[in-house]
Amino acid sequence: MNRSTADSKSRHAAGERIPWCERPRPIVALAPMDGITDSAFRRIVRRIDRDVVLFSEFTNADGFLCSGKIRRRLDFTAEEQPYFVQLFGHRPESFSESAKVLEQLGVMGIDVNMGCPAKKIVASQHGSGLMRNVDLACRIVERVAAGCGLEISVKTRLGWRNADNLIPFAKSLESAGASLITVHGRAYEQGFSGKADWEPIYRLKRNLGIPVLGNGDVADWADGLRKSAGLDGFMIGRAAIGNPWVFRNNFRQNSVSWRERSALIAAHYRLMRETKAERACLLEFRKHLAEYVRGIADAKAVRQELFATRDEQTLLARIEALSGIDEQLPRAG
Ligand SMILES: Cc1cc2nc3c(=O)[nH]c(=O)nc-3n(C[C@H](O)[C@H](O)[C@H](O)COP(=O)(O)O)c2cc1C
Repeated sequence: MNRSTADSKSRHAAGERIPWCERPRPIVALAPMDGITDSAFRRIVRRIDRDVVLFSEFTNADGFLCSGKIRRRLDFTAEEQPYFVQLFGHRPESFSESAKVLEQLGVMGIDVNMGCPAKKIVASQHGSGLMRNVDLACRIVERVAAGCGLEISVKTRLGWRNADNLIPFAKSLESAGASLITVHGRAYEQGFSGKADWEPIYRLKRNLGIPVLGNGDVADWADGLRKSAGLDGFMIGRAAIGNPWVFRNNFRQNSVSWRERSALIAAHYRLMRETKAERACLLEFRKHLAEYVRGIADAKAVRQELFATRDEQTLLARIEALSGIDEQLPRAG
């Protein structure tokens, strides 16, 4: 580890705002995922790795300013640092006003969503819609960069139909003041179909001064490291749902015991329960449970049993019983 890496590690531990360009490489991040990367899940990922950079779910910049409920969605605890908030919207002043409040609340930086393909979002010129309105995209970045002390990053896709405009688009954002770009290796029109193409991301990196993170189909830490060679780091999204251990640098499928898994699942439930009523929590936690048990023998029956649970004492007992799966597995040697 060189001196500057050691310095930034201790600054990181002290919760200091470290500019993207000075963060130790590779930068490894939890991708923002609506309905998934709430405070409970972010804290679970933090328990797996203390250096993963955490992003919030995307949140509407206008809503943040006028709704207490939306604002609470971005609540975070000190252990989540480095914690970045992702906003979407199309009004530069809403971004800059939100950023000022978020700066006071202690977040590390603001990320602008320029990649969401949802029809409702794109129709309002939010998300991927901003890739077709470079002028507005740049004004959002400029306003945030000028209006507060936080760094502003952008998460986008390869482009609308293909990657032809990726380099000029990203260069405009860089000139407007963006400090980091993350690219999901699919175009808007692809949605989530096909395979992520990282080649245009490598080309972008060779043409840009600011750090670039790659994203799309990363299976785990080692896969991310391989795919992001030449880049500044990578983000993991879907692979982490029900499997946050993918952030371990020595992760191998089936390398995590069910004793450890069931303890973490229960911890995850309890963290979610801190901010939600029992009934709401039981329902919301199902999407995580479904993924936590994916791939085990009789997963369908186990899932049904867990989903049918009407009270949390029973649910937690059933989760604890999952640790017995270790005894059923063939032992090595
Ligand atoms: C359930 C779900 C919610 C998502 N929500 C967001 C979001 O709020 N903001 C965003 O930039 N991307 C969002 N994404 C896209 C991911 O951040 C990521 O770019 C995409 O899933 C590709 O990475 P992966 O192959 O590692 O999952 C979402 C993806 C999923 C599956």
